[in-house]
Amino acid sequence: MNDTFHIEPMDAPLGARVLGVDLSQPIHATTVARITEAWRQRLVLVFPDQVIDDDQLIAFTRLFGDLDPPGPNPYGAPFLSEHPEINVISNVLVDGRPIGNLGAGEAIWHADMTYTDTPPMGAVLLGLEIPEGEGNTYFANMYAAFEALPSSLRMRIEGKLCIHDATYNSAGMMRKGYKEVTDPRTAPGARHPLVIRHPHTGRPALFLGRRRNACIVGFELADSEALLDALWAHATQPRFALTHVWRRGDVLMWDNMATLHRRDAFAETARRVLHRTQIKGIAAPTAA
Ligand code: SIN
Repeated sequence: MNDTFHIEPMDAPLGARVLGVDLSQPIHATTVARITEAWRQRLVLVFPDQVIDDDQLIAFTRLFGDLDPPGPNPYGAPFLSEHPEINVISNVLVDGRPIGNLGAGEAIWHADMTYTDTPPMGAVLLGLEIPEGEGNTYFANMYAAFEALPSSLRMRIEGKLCIHDATYNSAGMMRKGYKEVTDPRTAPGARHPLVIRHPHTGRPALFLGRRRNACIVGFELADSEALLDALWAHATQPRFALTHVWRRGDVLMWDNMATLHRRDAFAETARRVLHRTQIKGIAAPTAA
């Protein structure tokens, strides 16, 4: 089984399609090794036409590392009590209560849970209900963004740490247990180098986390804001990015240490349901 699969790089600065692997079946160690290599090189992998349940999603994720449970959501309890290690991304309400996170609005550019000391290495996202042609997800390659960084910006961020605020999710919702941040210099969350060495590949990558309430340690607020605005404008250019147009049954797997991602808003009346797992990081990010 699964020995005739192939990996097709996309015509984009990151991304590949993995065809001919059935994620509901046991996957041979040599196939896992090839997928792992493609994940390291292409950063985002798409496995189309998968029919898998939550246990199979978890089993697939565990092939690449330990599971990392989701961070606190705005509602203070896991969405799936039988699977607290799975995050549900959805706008659907049942009896007036959200069955998942992020609603139907835009999710702005971010990497996941970088407010923790050891952010997740990656994530796996299974599309269960998908509104046609809406709610696209975009990924940007932070190796490429670093390599193309103008030297004036590169010099200014060398050796600098940034505060990664934990207060809000990418849809702008406050996480349960946090309070509004009035000064980003005091935001709760980890401090990480702005340029990290990827824990697996050793390659330098820009590591921005999310823009809201970010602050470069030791800078005046206005100087930090100006430099971060310049870095974000650079890093999120279309020339570093990939657009994923979802189809039901797509499984996406991404490298969280070398990419940013965002999602378009979609109609509130549409149903969009995705289940998501995370792969634990192996160490706190170190400076490149
Ligand atoms: C996310 O994990 O940020 C959400 C991605 C999506 O809804 O497509």
